[in-house]
Amino acid sequence: MSAVTPEEEKLTRLAVVGCGRLATARIFPCFPRMPVRLVGVCDLDGAKARQNARRHGGEKVYTAVSKMLDETKPDGLVVCIGPEQHAAIAKQALSLGIPVYTEKPPAPTAAEAWAVALASRKAGKLCMSAFKYRYAPAQVKTRALVRAPEFGKLTALNLVRACGPYKNTPGDARSEFLLDFCIHPIDQVLFLAGEVDEVFAAAPTPANYAISVRFAGGAVGSLSLSCHGSWKQPLDRLELFGAPGRQITIEDQIFMRYHADGIQKDGNEPRFCTAGGDSLAETGFLPELEAFVGHLRGERNADEIPSRIEESAKSLAFYEAIKKSAASGKPVKPERFE
Ligand SMILES: NC(=O)c1ccc[n+]([C@@H]2O[C@H](COP(=O)([O-])OP(=O)(O)OC[C@H]3O[C@@H](n4cnc5c(N)ncnc54)[C@H](O)[C@@H]3O)[C@@H](O)[C@H]2O)c1
Repeated sequence: MSAVTPEEEKLTRLAVVGCGRLATARIFPCFPRMPVRLVGVCDLDGAKARQNARRHGGEKVYTAVSKMLDETKPDGLVVCIGPEQHAAIAKQALSLGIPVYTEKPPAPTAAEAWAVALASRKAGKLCMSAFKYRYAPAQVKTRALVRAPEFGKLTALNLVRACGPYKNTPGDARSEFLLDFCIHPIDQVLFLAGEVDEVFAAAPTPANYAISVRFAGGAVGSLSLSCHGSWKQPLDRLELFGAPGRQITIEDQIFMRYHADGIQKDGNEPRFCTAGGDSLAETGFLPELEAFVGHLRGERNADEIPSRIEESAKSLAFYEAIKKSAASGKPVKPERFE
């Protein structure tokens, strides 16, 4: 490997652990668009690590994260494996003073996410989760609109989300529809509508959920979640209502329209033809990584990062409340952490 140039010295030194499907398709392709050097690339499967390092300019390849952290001492670590490993590796990196970005879900339970939040506080270093809806332009715009005086107070929301089959094997977090797939809409609802006061859920099987929500701000919500759809035709729709006549509709995460008394006042309607549109940006994958790198470069404070681990723990608490309510047939208040 040739010596580091003065220009490269100015770049943020990132390490990545986990070179599976998502990292390869959505994380590594973002790096050339940011001021970063990939000082270490790690996967238990050395062939995957080597391939991603070769394609994306990774400087060293590892099969053990401890060795990579020890040798490269990166400015920040990106973790993309699965919830148990996200929490364990985040705590390991934070104990070494290294800020961390983990894919979703950040942990298998709210208590484990909160333990990471405490480790982050103790280290004084950021841990953030890849909750991409918090960075997608349509969602960011919607959050501002529902807080604008013209919209009035948020009064109601309806969410429909459907995908192809999940195995829902007990004890396998990656196979659980409500955790692996629905944690995105669960987090999206908290981001847009604020904290949840109480949840009532019906789920005859772990594949279909009908959920009623009362928000702390006074709004009511209805969530319909199913993995009896198709991966070829996933459904992603959300409607939000404010004062009478004020309505926002978001389709497929990125197409948003705000109507007041039947007249469209605002929206997010990117075009993807010819040179238009950028799906990595519109889906939030690029801006969430930019937020992490911006923080590492001293351009964004931790409290300006919308998906820091303290917030992610609330999403897992909402997820657990849905599960508990479906199991008990009773309304449940999500656990709160301080
Ligand atoms: N944000 C999104 O929209 C989105 C979409 C898909 C997946 N995900 C999340 O991304 C994560 C990864 O999903 P995936 O589909 O890429 O999984 P995957 O199974 O394809 O990849 C995981 C990789 O981690 C490696 N690995 C496992 N344990 C390791 C360890 N201790 N050290 C180093 N490497 C290790 C495996 O060898 C594998 O290559 C999951 O948490 C998933 O929920 C997010």
